Amino acid sequence: MKSISDPIALRRLIREARLQGKSVGFVATMGALHEGHVSLVRRARRSCAITVVSIFVNPLQFAAGEDLDRYPRREAEDAKLLEGEGVDLLYLPDPKEFYPPDFSTSVEVSRVSEGGEGAVRPGHFRGVATVIAKLFLQVQPDAAFFGRKDLQQVAVVRRMARDLDFPIRIETGDIVREPDGLALSSRNAYLSADERQLAAAFPAALFEAHDKVAAGERSVPELERATRLDLEAAGLGVDYVEVVNPETMAHQTRIEHGSTLTAAVRVGKTRLIDNVTLLEE
Ligand code: PAJ
Repeated sequence: MKSISDPIALRRLIREARLQGKSVGFVATMGALHEGHVSLVRRARRSCAITVVSIFVNPLQFAAGEDLDRYPRREAEDAKLLEGEGVDLLYLPDPKEFYPPDFSTSVEVSRVSEGGEGAVRPGHFRGVATVIAKLFLQVQPDAAFFGRKDLQQVAVVRRMARDLDFPIRIETGDIVREPDGLALSSRNAYLSADERQLAAAFPAALFEAHDKVAAGERSVPELERATRLDLEAAGLGVDYVEVVNPETMAHQTRIEHGSTLTAAVRVGKTRLIDNVTLLEE
């Protein structure tokens, strides 16, 4: 595995690979890697000849007062893990070069960015879309792999890639969970032992809603209300609980195939997001 910080050197290597007829798969991350990231890397490895992974804690997607400064950084460990997974190129952009002081451009994906996380974290998806647009242009992959844990991020990236004609296939990977259901997240490292135990109530409440739909429940307000009550009863702070169309992120008033229950909760000072498909496509 080669580690590179210089985007020009990166582009040269990727151009060489392409000239040899090799396809390029890309996984963007902010590091502190876990099995969720690894599952995307394995997908990329299966479907492309060359796998590129980026680690970059993107300041643009953190608002003032969020966890940018304490976001876990474990570069040496991450590099070892990726090497073991057979990754070809590890791209570690230098923040000062990536965003020079007079950096002035941003990518705004309206509508799909506005509800859910976008409403609670204004500007977050502008930061995500901007960094992904830049990374797509630097890496120029054939396919890019994103986890469905960040459902709205997938919708935003897909919409951006379509609207701006990025010739990149956007593929998604299932949510990887702990044995008790908690979705893996780099932010789980913030949880104390007690909070970690409490956090298991989050996926449990979402699965409960899924089971109710399987048993015939079709009332969106009832599902949202019951899920919120379950979360609150477990001592979690609820930012939102919403049934959405996963492509448009529009709130749905009827359960349809693909309808997805998304939620964000606070456990102590830590925010967690998760989602579950209520009715399979
Ligand atoms: P990060 O949180 O590091 O996640 C990188 C990728 O891993 C994302 O596509 C995310 O959805 C996926 N992922 C995280 N946890 C997962 C889980 N439990 N199961 C499956 N996939 C999971 O998301 C970001 O970074 C950033 O916003 C980024 C896209 C890199 C832009 O800065």
